[in-house]
Amino acid sequence: MGSSKSDVEVSYDVSNEFFRLWLDERMNYTCAVYESENQSLEAAQLNKLKILSDFAKVTPEKSVLDIGCGWGACLEYQVKNRGVKHAAGVTLSSAQAQEVMARRLPGVELYVADFMKWETKEKFDSLISICMMDHLCSPEEARKGRAVDIYRQYFKKCWEMTRPGAWFGLQTILRNRVPRNKKDLEDIYFCTHVIFPGGLNPRLEEIIQAVNPYWEVVSCVTRREHYQRTTAEWLRRMRTHEEAIRAKWGDKVFDDYDRYLSTCVRAFDQHYSSLAQYELRRID
Ligand SMILES: C[S@@+](CC[C@H](N)C(=O)[O-])C[C@H]1O[C@@H](n2cnc3c(N)ncnc32)[C@H](O)[C@@H]1O
Repeated sequence: MGSSKSDVEVSYDVSNEFFRLWLDERMNYTCAVYESENQSLEAAQLNKLKILSDFAKVTPEKSVLDIGCGWGACLEYQVKNRGVKHAAGVTLSSAQAQEVMARRLPGVELYVADFMKWETKEKFDSLISICMMDHLCSPEEARKGRAVDIYRQYFKKCWEMTRPGAWFGLQTILRNRVPRNKKDLEDIYFCTHVIFPGGLNPRLEEIIQAVNPYWEVVSCVTRREHYQRTTAEWLRRMRTHEEAIRAKWGDKVFDDYDRYLSTCVRAFDQHYSSLAQYELRRID
C-alpha cells in the first residue's frame, strides 16, 4: 500500500549531505509559509511549523507525535521553540533517522517504521503530519478507487493514537488539475514515478471525505503560491551547488533533481498541484 520502505529510500536516502545543501538549515522538506516578499526560507519554515503546532494546540506539557518526521525539523521545533518535554517521530527512512538521532533532541523518541503498522501503547495529545499522506496511496490504488478508504484507515489509526480532546495539524500536497500538454504530463509522471515512487498526491475532496468519522475539519487553508516559492528557492539553492553535486553524486542526481524541482515550480504555477493545511479536532 503506497510507498514501501525501498520506495521511500529512493526519495529520501540519496544522501543527507545532498539535501542539506539546498534545504533550510533545519532541513524541512515541505512547503514553507511566507509572511512577506523578503522573508527568508528559514523564517518561512518556522512560520509553517508555528501554524501547524498552533493547529495541533501544542503546549509544553502535551505529548506530540510527528508522523513522517523527515530529518527532524518539526521535532526540533517542538523541543527548542515550544518547550515540549515529550515528542515522538516516525519515519520510514533510515538515513533520515540517522540525522534525527544525531541532533540529540531531549525528550524525543524516534521510530523507523511504517506508521500504518506501527504499534505503541502511548496515546498522544497532539499530532502533526507534514506531507506524509502523499505516500499512502499508489497511482494504481487510486485508479481502482481505493484512495478514500486508504486515507480513512490513516485517519482511524491517527485517532487510535490519541487521547480524547486531541488536535491534529495536518499538511498535504494536493493533486488539482491535469496538464493538457505532453511535456507537463511527462514531467509530472517522472516526479510521481521516479522521484516519489509508490505515492500520489491526494485530492482535497478525498481528504475531506476521509476524515469522517474520526476528525472534524475546523479550518483548512490552501497555499499553492507558497509551495511555488519554496520549490523555486530549493531549485535556486541547488543550482548554486551544481558542480559539487555533479562531482559527488553524479550527473543523473543533479539532472533528475533539476527536472523534478523545475516541474514543481511549474505545477504550482499552473494549478496542477496545490498545498493544504488542516486544523483537525478529534471527534470523541
Ligand atoms: C516529504 S517528507 C516530509 C518530511 C517532514 N515532515 C518535513 O516536513 O520535512 C515525507 C516523510 O514521510 C515519511 N513516510 C512516508 N511514508 C511513511 C510511512 N508509511 N510511515 C512512516 N513514515 C512515512 C518519509 O519517510 C518522510 O520522512
